[in-house]
Amino acid sequence: MISLEASKRICSTSPKQAAKLARVVVAPFHHQAHNLGLGYTPTLEAAAIAHRSRPSSSTRSFSTTSTKQLRDIFPAKDTPFIRKTPPAWPHPGYTEEEMLAVAPAHRPPKTVGDWLAWKFVRLARWATDLATGIGRDQQVDMKNPTTAVVAQKPLSEAQWLVRVIFLESIAGVPGMVGAMLRHLHSLRRLKRDNGWIETLLEECYNERMHLLVFTKMAEPGWFMKTMILGAQGVFFNAMFLSYLISPKITHRFVGYLEEEAVHTYTRLLKEIENGDLPKWSNPDFQIPEIAVTYWRMPEGKRTMKDLILYVRADEAVHRGVNHTLSNLNQVEDPNPFVSEYKTGSEQQKPHAVLKGTGYEREEVIG
Ligand SMILES: [Fe+2]
Ligand SMILES: [Fe+2]
Repeated sequence: MISLEASKRICSTSPKQAAKLARVVVAPFHHQAHNLGLGYTPTLEAAAIAHRSRPSSSTRSFSTTSTKQLRDIFPAKDTPFIRKTPPAWPHPGYTEEEMLAVAPAHRPPKTVGDWLAWKFVRLARWATDLATGIGRDQQVDMKNPTTAVVAQKPLSEAQWLVRVIFLESIAGVPGMVGAMLRHLHSLRRLKRDNGWIETLLEECYNERMHLLVFTKMAEPGWFMKTMILGAQGVFFNAMFLSYLISPKITHRFVGYLEEEAVHTYTRLLKEIENGDLPKWSNPDFQIPEIAVTYWRMPEGKRTMKDLILYVRADEAVHRGVNHTLSNLNQVEDPNPFVSEYKTGSEQQKPHAVLKGTGYEREEVIG
């Protein structure tokens, strides 16, 4: 995923240097500065005011860019007629119990294809750990890499932002590739798709929302932008070929990738709860308005911890969905997650959030 040259370069990245990969903002956002329903409103000036009015809480401990220099990298465009553009796929929402029930899980590889997919994901995790500048003391128990979340030393907020922005920029690719290829397959073979395309598109839309939320907290620097560009160039083409050759293995690969995502966000939640991340552990830290709007986060439930609970639950859905899709007949089976079940078989309908290892074909198709 990352070139040798880049690997060598990021190999020596320390937590301090990680901050330099992005202009990191961990200062709380002012909701007043947001244009409700339109996302975050621009604003050098608002950032400067926030900086002046709350000198202690808005001082960034590790940024290389002063708050006054911050800019909104994707400001909402004001047009004469349009009031707001709501999401094409409104988020379905979760209960608190569903979000708290999410836990890291690992589906043991059963076939050669599973094993291949798993090994590729391990390689990607190794490269990401390098890119994030994770030291030995920041590693979890590598014998249980997707379920162990305790490390000697926490990551810094800057390291977390670099990691999640890079991860989310990659995570939004496979759903689009899968949807595109299934769409084209349906057109050229004159066959129906049975509900897979929409779920895959919704998945990549959701991943892009994760990315947009985190880029409200940090603006990637030129080096990170180059890494994202290079990684996307390689990853898109790899996914394209892989999905053409074996959609089954590709869905398994994504299932394993999402195991990593659930693991990453569970560790982040733990570090927030432990108070290891001074800004994000503070319940007064205000998350970007775009997140509040997208997940329709209730008043009083808008801390950084709440935000990560939503993001983690989304990753758990991707994990359950992709492991399940990998278990199905790729050509004929309907997508069980959007299907209506016959009377008496309703209990067979899968619940993606709760089953980390996915459903077997017999359980959901019969
Ligand atoms: Fe994500
Ligand atoms: Fe995901």
